[in-house]
Amino acid sequence: MGGSWLGLTWGFGGLRCVDGVPSFAPTLPAAWQGYRFGMRWRGRQVRVAVQAQGVEYSLLEGAPLEIRHHGRTLTLHVDHPVTCALSGKASFPQSFKAVIFDLDGVIADTAVVHHAAWKKLAAEIGLPFDDAVGERLKGVDRRASLEILLENATHSYSEAEKDALATRKNDYYRQQIEHFGPENLLPGAREAVAATRRAGLKTALASASRNAPLLLERLGIAELFDYVADAGNIRHAKPDPEIFLAAAAGLGLAPTDCLGVEDAAAGVASIHAAGMAAVGIGDTRALHQADVVLPAIAAFDITDFATPEKKTQDERGHVPPIV
Ligand code: G6P
Ligand code: MG
Repeated sequence: MGGSWLGLTWGFGGLRCVDGVPSFAPTLPAAWQGYRFGMRWRGRQVRVAVQAQGVEYSLLEGAPLEIRHHGRTLTLHVDHPVTCALSGKASFPQSFKAVIFDLDGVIADTAVVHHAAWKKLAAEIGLPFDDAVGERLKGVDRRASLEILLENATHSYSEAEKDALATRKNDYYRQQIEHFGPENLLPGAREAVAATRRAGLKTALASASRNAPLLLERLGIAELFDYVADAGNIRHAKPDPEIFLAAAAGLGLAPTDCLGVEDAAAGVASIHAAGMAAVGIGDTRALHQADVVLPAIAAFDITDFATPEKKTQDERGHVPPIV
């Protein structure tokens, strides 16, 4: 029994402990339909079920647990199994029940406005700002963005000074979006969200921006979302999964029922850490962690990603008992 357990977990399951995190890279021998194994890890009970259709990770008991699947970080919660493609990349279509969209750079043409506001602030306080820094700021909340900007500062700033700098940047940003209207939607964005709803899926917004409610009103699309996560209540900025988990919870759905759409590397990491599949919008190099990358939201066709109904375990086929 001990030998077969080790063979499954270490051999076929590819289990290793990397930086203290249980990391899996499962393979499925051609002659096998599937296999399962259970393991205890620091007070948690984990079950791994491997089939051609995917790998299901379940936390049966214990506090939320971070694991890795082919190098991608996932957080397991009791009663919320996470299914991943054997290859490490999710395959589509899947039986999603909702799509959770980022706002800036996905729906609204505002990534450039945030970028310009930070660049102006950086110039004013004598800090370098290039496209690489700009890319790192994408999707990251205001305060965390400021900390990235200040990495190159030659002196330290007090909390009050940081507050003032963050406010100044926000003022520059607000001056621009005050004049926004539906013409500032990215091409195809309204249709992408509307078509998702017509296909019977729910929609939510997971934007780190505290300006999101104002922007939604200006763009005239507030009514297209079943739930808007409140950035003001989020304690951990992307790449932490908190905002995508909050959006799924707000819809009353498990994270694995949701597909996330993001234009930022930090956002893709946030989606994956939440246990969701990720569609990247933009540059394939910056978004190489995404399960699929589209050049623009106009290319998002919900029928490529979602099938109408979620299959049950029985429909997916028999899985051998736990070893
Ligand atoms: C979005 C943008 C970021 C921005 C963040 C906070 O995620 O992609 O660039 O820093 O929202 O926005 P806020 O409007 O609250 O400053
Ligand atoms: Mg974005």
